[in-house]
Amino acid sequence: MGRCRVGLVGAGGVAQRHARVLSGFDDVELVGVTDVVPDAASALAAQHGGQTFRDVTELLAAAPDAVYVCVPPFAHGPAEEAVIDAGVPMFVEKPVAVDLVTAERVADLVARRGLRTAVGHHWRYLSVLDQARELLADRPVRMVSGAWLDKVPPVAWWARRDRSGGPVVEQAAHVLDLIRVLAGEVTEVTAYGNGTPPPVDGADIDSVTTAALRFADGAVGTLSAACVLGWKHRAGLEILADGLALALTEDGLLIRDADGERHVPADPEAARVAVDRAFVDAVRGVGDDVRVPYAEALKTQRLALAVADSARTGQTVRLGAPAESVALTSGVSVDA
Ligand SMILES: NC(=O)c1ccc[n+]([C@@H]2O[C@H](COP(=O)([O-])OP(=O)(O)OC[C@H]3O[C@@H](n4cnc5c(N)ncnc54)[C@H](O)[C@@H]3O)[C@@H](O)[C@H]2O)c1
Repeated sequence: MGRCRVGLVGAGGVAQRHARVLSGFDDVELVGVTDVVPDAASALAAQHGGQTFRDVTELLAAAPDAVYVCVPPFAHGPAEEAVIDAGVPMFVEKPVAVDLVTAERVADLVARRGLRTAVGHHWRYLSVLDQARELLADRPVRMVSGAWLDKVPPVAWWARRDRSGGPVVEQAAHVLDLIRVLAGEVTEVTAYGNGTPPPVDGADIDSVTTAALRFADGAVGTLSAACVLGWKHRAGLEILADGLALALTEDGLLIRDADGERHVPADPEAARVAVDRAFVDAVRGVGDDVRVPYAEALKTQRLALAVADSARTGQTVRLGAPAESVALTSGVSVDA
């Protein structure tokens, strides 16, 4: 392969970020972009290069080597299916869907086609993650406490449950994904929402959610998401093991043990570049460092939806049996 020719579906905030990162790679050419808002596609193409396409079909007709799907949660599904049908490697932004039915369907199609995929869980590329894993290698995790405490992001779809899936699915998914990496799989979730939407037009999401989590390996934990602030207050997780406390955010890792306390900085921008670099290298056949292919992101999606479902229904959700999970989470889209 010469330069890796990449097309984009969606031209909003995160697509602009990927376009900026990708256009900084010598071995990538931006073929172009399509968006349901043509002006958004034109603006991105004007800034980063490439053509604008009327739709995904036209984009695929330009024979890209890879496609980035950067649409809001509610819009996932049709673009992925077209890309999979064309057999083109695909990067999908998180969350992979607003519900589980769509995500399961896409995952199944990806598996059948044996397609190379990656999902935008760039926190997996934080340099401090390996360090956290090493520190936990010989001690079981006892307790986890994850949080995403923030404002309402300035996109129109965000405060609608049927559009975004809510703060846990849309935002805290990054934290839940790292919780899975560091503490293993969650088997049981009991969550509460406050029933009060943030003061934004059309909002129907809880402005605060808290969940209790039980892990397969015996740990217990919590996950909290809030969008009641005017700023991003904190996003990350704390982990307690015997004689060890870790606090991980996009900015670094705080370690406290018998030797005292130290902070190891991390570079979130480097992680955002690394997630694209790894995908492009994999597509070019020169690397194998995609840390979250679609099937892996599906597990995080299941967990996030379990929290959202439990908060919505007031019921404890048990994870592990796929059939049960599907039944429980199908309501996310139906309910909206
Ligand atoms: N990994 C990260 O750090 C990160 C950061 C920001 C956003 N995101 C995720 O990326 C997704 C998009 O977020 P955003 O901030 O770019 O939103 P956005 O609203 O700024 O942009 C979304 C774009 O998609 C377009 N669109 C909607 N439906 C479409 C369709 N069917 N086909 C083509 N285009 C369509 C919209 O017109 C809009 O231009 C969200 O799921 C968000 O969670 C991830």
